[in-house]
Amino acid sequence: MLTCPKGIAPYLKDEVAALGFPVIGTAEATVDTHGTFDDTMKLNLHLRTAHRVLFLLHEFDTNHPDTLYREIVDVPWENYLKADGYFSVHSAVSTDALRDPRFGTLRCKDAIVDRIRNKCGRRPDSGSEPLGAAVFLHWQDNHASVYLDTSGEPLSRRGYRKNPFKAPMQETLAAAAILATTWNKKEIFINPMCGSGTLAIEAALMALRRAPGLSRDNFGFMHLKIFNKARWNTLTKEAWRDTGSTLDTKIVATDIDPEAIVAAKKNARDAGVENSIVFEVCDFRQTPVPHGGPGVVFFNPEYGERLGLEAELEPIYTAIGDFLKKTCIGYRGYVFTGNLALAKKIGLKSSRRIQFFNSNLECRLLEFELYEGTQQQQRGLSPWDQEGP
Ligand SMILES: C[S@@+](CC[C@H](N)C(=O)[O-])C[C@H]1O[C@@H](n2cnc3c(N)ncnc32)[C@H](O)[C@@H]1O
Repeated sequence: MLTCPKGIAPYLKDEVAALGFPVIGTAEATVDTHGTFDDTMKLNLHLRTAHRVLFLLHEFDTNHPDTLYREIVDVPWENYLKADGYFSVHSAVSTDALRDPRFGTLRCKDAIVDRIRNKCGRRPDSGSEPLGAAVFLHWQDNHASVYLDTSGEPLSRRGYRKNPFKAPMQETLAAAAILATTWNKKEIFINPMCGSGTLAIEAALMALRRAPGLSRDNFGFMHLKIFNKARWNTLTKEAWRDTGSTLDTKIVATDIDPEAIVAAKKNARDAGVENSIVFEVCDFRQTPVPHGGPGVVFFNPEYGERLGLEAELEPIYTAIGDFLKKTCIGYRGYVFTGNLALAKKIGLKSSRRIQFFNSNLECRLLEFELYEGTQQQQRGLSPWDQEGP
């Protein structure tokens, strides 16, 4: 099973299929596929929109923590976890069988430790940090599943964003939002208000076909006894071989704050794409937009949640609308925002309103087709008017 942020499963499903794996089910925040343990390495290396790659070990019915313990203690954990190693258990537990869901996690951990102590004569260390081997317990109503979490730290932590600026977008969300634009990687990609550069970096990684997992040196699977290092080396070697060295297009990232551009450049360097992005410190209205496109102009302005006040941001949203319709003819414009009232201030009619979630906040990616006639469009046509917030 692959997990992802809420709402992103349609993009993850397409990625899984493109890698040649069967899609056998999807839900709001999961995609199910079949594969071997070795396949989990390929998925961890290549997926841009997944959070975790979970390898199912056992599923069973249970309505009591004692049954949970007995089922989990029967799993041959000594084949997967090192007796002298470290592991963590995290869980999603929603059952009337427990007053405190944390008790499920605890019983799962106890069962694993007891099993290994009985089989090996010593017990592994355990803790809450997912930096070594990781186990995931899912217990919903009277059904439970235990998985090896082969990702460990979520895959959104690519390893390149050591310099987050204000309100950075999660890497997986940025990747899914770019996929939603249907950008073809040959069109120009422009990201004014780039902050720490996540969108431009994800766009560059995609355009270079560079596997996102290449920037990371730690995955849960690396700490398991069944880790096949030679196979991993082959997979990464193949991924490097398939990575392009130059772009077929131009990616531009600008921000008014010089510190944001310093952070974005450092992040891009760590991601290995610094030379693929043109960075510039400027107000978004001065962003250099090559005449006529075609391309994508992607804004992720503040939306009054954590930063700035709504009233202060209103003129910014109006100016974004003006900039799109006057300067970006021939492009598709996108504004990712979680604020309906501010979205209305853009004053352009959107052609698509794509739902996303930033943590639990419902957001929209608004698409504007920017052709000559856009300038004649009336202000006040609200993107979310037709569907509510
Ligand atoms: C929500 S953050 C963007 C986050 C970004 N997507 C990321 O992943 O890091 C908004 C950015 O807009 C920038 N900004 C605000 N007003 C601006 C303006 N008038 N012109 C250009 N950038 C501006 C801020 O400096 C901030 O970095």
